[in-house]
Amino acid sequence: MKLPVLEDLGEVRGKTVLVRTDFNVPMVGPDDARTITDDFRIRAALPTITWLTERGARVVCASHLGRPRGTVSSKYSMAPVRARLAELAPGVELLENLRFSPGEEGNDAEFVEHLVQGVDLYVNDAFGAAHRAHGSIVGPPRTLRSAAGRLIEHEVSVLSGLRNGSKRPFVAVLGGAKVSDKLGVIETLVGMVDHLLIGGGMCFTFLAAQGHAIGDSLCERDQVEHCAELLAKYPTILLPEDIIGLDADGVYATFGRRLPAGAKGMDIGPGTAAAFTDVIMDARTVLWNGPMGVFEDARFAKGTRTVAQAMADSKAFTVVGGGDSAAAMAEFGLADEVNHVSTGGGASLEFLEFGDLPGLQALREAPR
Ligand code: 3PG
Repeated sequence: MKLPVLEDLGEVRGKTVLVRTDFNVPMVGPDDARTITDDFRIRAALPTITWLTERGARVVCASHLGRPRGTVSSKYSMAPVRARLAELAPGVELLENLRFSPGEEGNDAEFVEHLVQGVDLYVNDAFGAAHRAHGSIVGPPRTLRSAAGRLIEHEVSVLSGLRNGSKRPFVAVLGGAKVSDKLGVIETLVGMVDHLLIGGGMCFTFLAAQGHAIGDSLCERDQVEHCAELLAKYPTILLPEDIIGLDADGVYATFGRRLPAGAKGMDIGPGTAAAFTDVIMDARTVLWNGPMGVFEDARFAKGTRTVAQAMADSKAFTVVGGGDSAAAMAEFGLADEVNHVSTGGGASLEFLEFGDLPGLQALREAPR
């Protein structure tokens, strides 16, 4: 069944519309004076908010911020987001952090009842949180006429396009720390793509599966066997051929595929970055999720920067999955050089894996 969209809400003039947004934005500074470092997710909700306000609706936004786990804390206050929203969309309200109440993550009926009090319509535009079956995501559509906002519509259309057949060669680049978090999506993607390039912390579990010594690098021993099976089954998986890291004395060093005892891999090496660039430049569709190394440390940022630059230079249809890789694109000033930067990290991977999310399903089942 099709997702209901804003036009399906009927008359919105004079109505109070609860808009679930994902304003979980990165912040820095002391707990009581936090400042936003990237307002991408706030700006991404504006098309939906203005569509509603221009048509005379009263918009009340609601979002989570961080993981306060059901307790009130100044560190996770929505105040800095509220101030930025007031600049971008004056007159639009924003509730306090939904996760200050345990009812949000617990999907508690009483919490939802309180949330929808005085509300006429519900819009979900929180793509980044649509994989969470939390109160504000799946609760309101049980009783209210509901719709997906423009951001969710766009994300779903781009990611469905990737799932349903993309221009080939189709290349996926995966990084990030943990293999276990991404095994599901690796198994889905590996059947869809022409090449699956693996970097980041997770590459060491794969290198260990190939029998290489990996020193003290990150490794999920319980996943080694599974990675070996994937490598045997899919020759399309490409692993790093050189690694940058620290030797046993903590000195910066370049290694091949074998890391000596006590060494720690922190980034893909220049040879790998160049090889990955070649594959990306030959592709017609590229999906990238997860940094190639610990890019927050300038010594280990080259691999991630090279992949980001290749994404920007490529003529392919380029999609960056949210989270750290989106932050990297923004940090390198390249976010506008790709076709789509997803606002969802976990959500975009889960959508690619399953083709649906709890938040989308709830909208489809809402009263019309
Ligand atoms: C995100 O940042 O990926 C979303 O806002 C979801 O946050 P969560 O992983 O804390 O649920």
